[in-house]
Amino acid sequence: MKLFIDSADIGEIREAAGWGILEGCTTNPSLVRKTGRSFRDCVTDILAVVDGPVSVEAVSPDAEGMVREGEDWAKLDPEKVTVKIPMGLEGLKAIRALAERNIKTNCTLVFSPTQAMLACRAGASFISPFVGRLDDIGHDGMELVADAVEFIDGYGLETEVIAASLRHPLHVIEAARAGAHISTIPFKVLKMMAVHPLTEAGIRKFNEDFAQIPAAGRQ
Ligand code: G3P
Repeated sequence: MKLFIDSADIGEIREAAGWGILEGCTTNPSLVRKTGRSFRDCVTDILAVVDGPVSVEAVSPDAEGMVREGEDWAKLDPEKVTVKIPMGLEGLKAIRALAERNIKTNCTLVFSPTQAMLACRAGASFISPFVGRLDDIGHDGMELVADAVEFIDGYGLETEVIAASLRHPLHVIEAARAGAHISTIPFKVLKMMAVHPLTEAGIRKFNEDFAQIPAAGRQ
């Protein structure tokens, strides 16, 4: 399973990229808003730092507008830019039109297996089931990830499933167990994934013992 960061904060993204584990980035208008910067500035900076797909949201209400936005974003970096298209009938039309122009898409706000099927058939490069938001309303978000992976892999489709709206490290583990191709993870959760109290305690003890070895014996 590949790891993407779910963020528009270039400081966070740069730091996570420095750990050598990032293979992509997803953004959305809410994440961009939190930065206080312009959409274009955020996306331009992210493209310069992330070596992999970068999802950028289209916000038009109709397919024509989404396609125009997608074509515009793709000019920034045709390899990396992935146009995030909200699920819906206009979204499906836009996904098909962008696929025909060889522009990658990530169908976002996917909450049911039938939505996932339609997005794949329209030619989405990625689909994003929102796990946490389904859990929030008492549904099993991870079951949707597992269902989508099962039919995509079973039918040999090329769409990749991005487990999105992940809220804690256990979500990431469950996404891997469900066979998600990618997890997109908030910075805070990525950092939590690296930490374990036994690791901290082990390092402390090794350092203490190392300091007790006579200087001449420390090499
Ligand atoms: O990738 C989608 C994500 O940004 C939504 O997360 O926590 O707002 O449901 P959340």
